[in-house]
Parts: sequence; C-alpha cells; structure tokens
Amino acid sequence: MIRIGVRSGTARDASADVLVHMMFEGWQTSPEESGILRSLTGADFVPEKGTGFSGKERETLLLFPKGLASARLLLVGAGSRTSWSSERLRRAGATAAKALRAMGVRTAAVVEPERRVTAPLAAPGEDPAEAYGCAIAEGMFLGLYTFDRYKSKRTPDLPAAVTLLAGSSSREKGIGKGVGYARVVCAATCLARDLSNAPGNEIYPETLASAARSAGRRSGFAVRTLDEKKIRALGMGGLAAVAAGSRRPPRLIVMEHRGTGAGKHARPPVVLVGKGVTFDSGGISIKPSAGMAEMKMDMAGGAVVIATLEAAARLRLPGRLIGIVPAAENLPGGSALRPGDILRHHNGMTSEVDNTDAEGRLILADALSYAAGYNPSLVIDVATLTGAVVVALGHVATGMLGNDAGAMQALRESGERTYERVWELPMFEEYDALIKSDIADVKNVGGRWGGAITAAMFLRRFTGTCRWVHLDVAGTSILEEPADYAPRGGSGVGVRLLVDFLRRRERERGARQ
Ligand code: BES
Ligand code: MN
Ligand code: ZN
Repeated sequence: MIRIGVRSGTARDASADVLVHMMFEGWQTSPEESGILRSLTGADFVPEKGTGFSGKERETLLLFPKGLASARLLLVGAGSRTSWSSERLRRAGATAAKALRAMGVRTAAVVEPERRVTAPLAAPGEDPAEAYGCAIAEGMFLGLYTFDRYKSKRTPDLPAAVTLLAGSSSREKGIGKGVGYARVVCAATCLARDLSNAPGNEIYPETLASAARSAGRRSGFAVRTLDEKKIRALGMGGLAAVAAGSRRPPRLIVMEHRGTGAGKHARPPVVLVGKGVTFDSGGISIKPSAGMAEMKMDMAGGAVVIATLEAAARLRLPGRLIGIVPAAENLPGGSALRPGDILRHHNGMTSEVDNTDAEGRLILADALSYAAGYNPSLVIDVATLTGAVVVALGHVATGMLGNDAGAMQALRESGERTYERVWELPMFEEYDALIKSDIADVKNVGGRWGGAITAAMFLRRFTGTCRWVHLDVAGTSILEEPADYAPRGGSGVGVRLLVDFLRRRERERGARQ
C-alpha cells in the first residue's frame, strides 16, 4: 500500500510532483471555487473549450501553473457540491490516485477542502477532519488495489507517497487519525481481496488455514485449525460430506481476538462465521461451465472473517471476537456427496441433500452450531450463499436476514457509513415450509423461488438460541464489473462494514457502563 501522510502547510508551498485539488461542478460560476483556483494558479483561469473538465465525478484535468512549488496541478472532479458525501470523497480519492499512477507520479500533495465542505461528512459527535482523512485515504488505498501477483509485468507501485495538507495542527491530528484507521481497514480489505482472487489451486482448505495463521501471527490474534479427524469427531457431518469429493481435506479455522477484559470478566463474544468453500463446482449437481471459474471466490465470506479479525487485532478493539471459517472444496468425485444423501450435523439434526450445489449451508450449519457453544452475544455469518440474492439485489447491496432487529439496524447504519450497504429480506414462517423434508429434519433446497430466504431459513435451524444475522454477499463480494474503488473480482465487501459495526457497538457498550 502507498504511504499517505499528513502535514500542515499551504498549497502554494507544498513541493510535490503534483498538487491535487478537488473541484465541484459549476465551479466556473462559483466565486469561492474560482477564487481558490485563482489563488493556486495565480491567474484567472477560464477553462478552454474542449478540455472537457466541468467538475463532474471521475473527471480530471492537468494544469501547469506558475508560482507553485509543485510543477503540476491535477484537478479532480468532485461532482455536485450539494450532495457531497464520504462516498463521493472516496471516489474522488480513487480517481485522483489512479490518475497519478497513470501519469507515473511519485509524490503528490492534496489541497485540504474548505471546512464548510468537509463538515457535513462527519456524523454528530465525530470529527470532520477525521472523517475527511478516512474517506479520501480509503478511496486511494482501495482504488489502487491490483491483483497482479501472477503477471510478469506488475503495475508500478505509484504514487509512492501522498501528503494530505492540513490547515491547522488540530486538523492535522484529526486527518492523521482518519488515515490511520483507513490504513488498517483497507489493508484488511485488500487481504480479503487477495484471498478471494487467488485461484483454487493456490487457496484450498489447508492453505486458507495457513493464511489465517500467518494473519494471526502478523497481527496478534490466536488461530487454531481442526483437521478432518477432529471435524468428524465433533459430528460435523456437513463439513465432512461437502469436502468428501475432493482430495483436499477440510479444515475448521477458529480464530480469537481476546480484546481487553479477558479472564473471568470476559464478556460474551461476538462470533463471526464465514463460508470457506475454496472452490464450488457444484459437486455431483455440477454447475454449467460458463462462469464456473468465479467460484474460486466462494470463500469470500471466510476471507472477510479472517480479515476482520486482523483489523480488530490491529485496532485493539476492546471486545472479544471469535472467527470461525469452515473450509472445504466442493468437487464431484468417487467419494463425493450425492443428491439424496442424509447428513447428521454438529447439533444432532439431520439434513436431506437435494442438491449438492447448495453446499454452503451444509458447512455453515456445523459452524453455526459450533458458534453457539461460545454463548455469544451475537453471531454474524458472511457467505456467498445464493445466486438468488444476486437476482434480488444485484451487485449493489448485501442481503441481510436474521433475528436481532437491533443488530440489523446498526448494520444498516454501518452499511450507509461505509457504503457497504445491506438490505433486509424477510424471514416469514411460510418460507420455512419450503425446506421441509419427508425423511430428515430439513432439506437443503427450497425450490426455485425465494432462494436467498430459504437458504437463511435453513441456517436458522442451526443457530440455537443465539442472536444471529446472516449476510449473503454473493453479489457484493464478487464483482463482474469494476467499481470506483474496487476492480473486477473480489471486493472484500464486509470488512469495513463489520469493523465499523464492531467499533460502534463497543463504543456504545463502553458509554453505557
Ligand atoms: N456459491 C453458490 C452461490 C453463488 C452464486 C455465489 C453466484 C456467488 C455467485 C452456492 O453454493 C450455490 O451454488 N447456490 C445455489 C443454490 C441452489 C442449488 C439452491 C444457487 O444459488 O444456485
Ligand atoms: Mn454451490
Ligand atoms: Zn457455494
């Protein structure tokens, strides 16, 4: 990741290769905006017809003014001033960073926007300087992400350093705090992206487990991995059965961030559960070959859980946090799970397998039941669970279902704040009738309609008495088209959402005591 620093100083004296300034639409007729531009360029600058720069989002224009310590000035379109938001700032940060890289720029300095402009970015009680630093840095860090590990010719690591200019030392401190937080959550998001994008011959259950162990060593959280023998001994018939068609054995990855107040004062933990299907061919109910390759990302939920543990540890969040990732590869083979098989899960319940491609719920059933053993205050699972949620919500919103209205409200808010937005789907009883089995306790598919909901209905049977939220990230964690600050492929969606959620939940708990 690039270096982003903060320094108090004026735009005129900042000596970087390029000075970056964000401009709103309609700047030509706004006295303030053209005033700032005049002070930077020392001239009444009228855009030549045909430069195409009107200040719309994603536009850039490069100028060579005299009288600046920096030789070049990059104008970045910020869009309409009235609907300015943290998300728009993330996009502007990404646009700027990508333009700088494309120009081969080494160092850049960013002009601090007017306070009037950044003030609305912060929620009540929050520091606008911090909100500004966080959002622009997120846009830059995430926008520059590439998965080029397998390319002989790598994308250059540019710009090498970006300085955010601050008008005062208190603003400098606030911006620095925001950048520091962004660095941690974006590094974690990029870890989740890397794990998702890695192919199935690199990431399989054992190597996903080693990736979790290295993250734990690096960032200071504990990791245990249970092997196939242990998985069977624990009665995890779903996880064992889904893995049976592959020569790669399953793993149950269990992570713990202790937080403060461990020992006998330990509060009940939040448990995160992530689907870790390292490749999903569908099994005997095999998928069509078109698009099957993207099923290397069917462990995106597991990657989000590993990455969230990493961020929680690095931020030293006070609460205890457990992460559980059941990992398996779903392949057809001589010993593969068959349609019609009946499995016994960790909680003793049986499931009838109607379709071996509905494998995520079979392994999550065991993991959710195992999670209940922690007596958690809340369980959140993250899974690329259904194509049906992509039909319902596209690649824009994560499907959310669960039984804890308070947690879901808080997740909705964190979704708006991080723009990793979630949308609730109902869990009406009628849907439960669709997964009735004649011969087992439950059936693993509910027919054609309402597939994201019947999948959640299946999971619900294994959550015991826990408060629980399910996040179906099938559409949001795997992008078919690049977004503003995420390339095609794994997006890492869920990490910033969960870290913001956990941080705010703990802040609230602290305030109540
Ligand atoms: N991993 C898939 C869901 C998926 C689809 C994730 C598209 C990302 C993009 C899951 O295991 C699956 O195959 N679900 C089936 C369930 C069906 C057989 C009931 C589906 O959605 O088609
Ligand atoms: Mn599947
Ligand atoms: Zn799957």
